Amino acid sequence: MKSPVPCGRSIVLIGLMGCGKSTVGRELSRATGLPFLDTDLLIEEQVGMEIPRIFAERGESHFRALETTLLSYLRDHPSPRSSGIIATGGGIVLHPKNRSILRLLGLVVWLDVDLPNLLARTVRAQNRPLLCNTDREAKLRELIATRNPLYEQTAHVRINSSELKASQVADIILQHAKNFFA
Ligand code: S3P
Repeated sequence: MKSPVPCGRSIVLIGLMGCGKSTVGRELSRATGLPFLDTDLLIEEQVGMEIPRIFAERGESHFRALETTLLSYLRDHPSPRSSGIIATGGGIVLHPKNRSILRLLGLVVWLDVDLPNLLARTVRAQNRPLLCNTDREAKLRELIATRNPLYEQTAHVRINSSELKASQVADIILQHAKNFFA
């Protein structure tokens, strides 16, 4: 099957914690044979620390700077290994520079999931510092209010995936990719 994504370009998944970026990303990777990249994992590998520790020892703003450095690298070094299916951290859209770089990497898809589903999917929040030791529902409400406008302006495509299985979301994305990269 011909890949729906040209060499050096990517399908980029954005959205809040728990919206399914990694699950859908792996599904897309299986379906297309393209590499799966996860910005959180790449940062953890590069720094040699897990995200909660980066937040605790260096602070959120340091983590945000690492996200910008990584995205700039991916933009400046397009190759079959640095592109494919990219899942991003939920806060990657906070930095205006990141929002423009994301759109340069390829097709940006916002997985829009409602609050009840986000709550259900983030029950185990130990590896997500923003949701630890806090009122998860209140925090997610706040993040929806502040970030949804940023996801909206960054994405080429918005998919309401609250009630969809990962495989269904992946199928919808592949249809969009065919048109986007045609
Ligand atoms: C964050 C989301 C996390 C991770 C970090 C911060 C956020 O990624 O980047 O904990 O600000 O929303 P996931 O969205 O993959 O959980």
